[in-house]
Amino acid sequence: MQPEPLNVWDYERLAEERLEAGAYGYFAGGAGDERTLRRNVEAYAEWTLRPRMLVDVAETTTATTVLGTDVSMPLLVAPVAFQRVAHADGECGTARAAAAVGTIMCLSTLATTTPADVAAAAPGAPRWFQLYVFRDRGFARSLLDQAADAGFGAVVVTIDTPFLGRRERDLRTGFTIPRELTVPSVAAGGGATGTTPKEMLALIDPSLSWKDVEALAAASAAPVLVKGVLTAEDALLALEHGAAGIVVSNHGGRQLDGVPASLDALPEVVDAVGDRVEVLLDGGIRRGVDVVKALALGARAVLAGRPIVWGLAAGGEAGARHVLELLRDEIQLALALCGCARPDDLTRAQVARAPAPGWTSAGAGLQ
Ligand code: FNR
Ligand code: LAC
Repeated sequence: MQPEPLNVWDYERLAEERLEAGAYGYFAGGAGDERTLRRNVEAYAEWTLRPRMLVDVAETTTATTVLGTDVSMPLLVAPVAFQRVAHADGECGTARAAAAVGTIMCLSTLATTTPADVAAAAPGAPRWFQLYVFRDRGFARSLLDQAADAGFGAVVVTIDTPFLGRRERDLRTGFTIPRELTVPSVAAGGGATGTTPKEMLALIDPSLSWKDVEALAAASAAPVLVKGVLTAEDALLALEHGAAGIVVSNHGGRQLDGVPASLDALPEVVDAVGDRVEVLLDGGIRRGVDVVKALALGARAVLAGRPIVWGLAAGGEAGARHVLELLRDEIQLALALCGCARPDDLTRAQVARAPAPGWTSAGAGLQ
């Protein structure tokens, strides 16, 4: 019998064992030389925690709010495409796992399940919808209508993907979406299924601009967040064009190799927007202490992508749920040991730059 997985790294190893090489490479990989992919994880090790002692932490909570929605912890499920490639439970399994733990799942436009079916899998749970704006704008409208009808409470427009990054792992393995899986949004948009992610992403409109974001925000009853901001300049443009929230993200190192870790970009975005909108972050979160560092640097909450995929691949819905529970427990312990009874108690004073580069040996994944 295998020992029970204790952390996200254990789940990644299990997922690698269970998935075909092409699928694992698709989920794990990044663009180019994968510098940004690695940097996303390493950046957390360059901050140390400054815990406060003798604070009463007998009663603590990880619960918080994100754009006014109650969540059990400051960690949400990032949009990840093609989840039935990881496990037959797919997006419905992830939705039930997120609901069981009490957090928000963000569903990808490129899901292998319709928004209505995901909503039906976890009725009553809070859910967000990630939008890729396709060249056919009527189609974006229809996707948003489907999401609104199915009770998705916010729209997350991804702005860092006019073209798919060059992912050499996929080129080497020749990864394709298995023919038996459909991507309802792509099928309805006139794209073929059973092809590569790159071909599917070719439906995205590379001419998308801030004016389009403004039009979307004006037309949407639900708040619109933009995902993929890495600079203070773009954070200010997002505010100017009606974004209700900002996700600092480099798409998990899968788009432009050579950009900073999302954690590196967080402080300038937080400084630029102040408390005008909530700033979220994703990329490289593997531990509860990573979440605590991001919150101390000004994120309202974080999203995790690959960790949930590893849980799903290793154990379907139960695996995804266990990963979320492990992260929630790690966040709770890290908060308490920092002297914080709740996420809101974290401030910039709880983190400092690590004293020397030798301190960092990130992502080792204790075995
Ligand atoms: C993604 N991501 C993503 N983002 C998005 O807006 N729409 C999408 O369809 C996808 N699809 C997708 C597939 C896979 C396999 C991965 C790994 C990622 C990016 C995702 O939302 C998030 O930004 C990163 O995954 C965060 O980094 P970590 O948590 O994976 O390190
Ligand atoms: C990816 C796309 C689908 O990162 O967002 O693979």
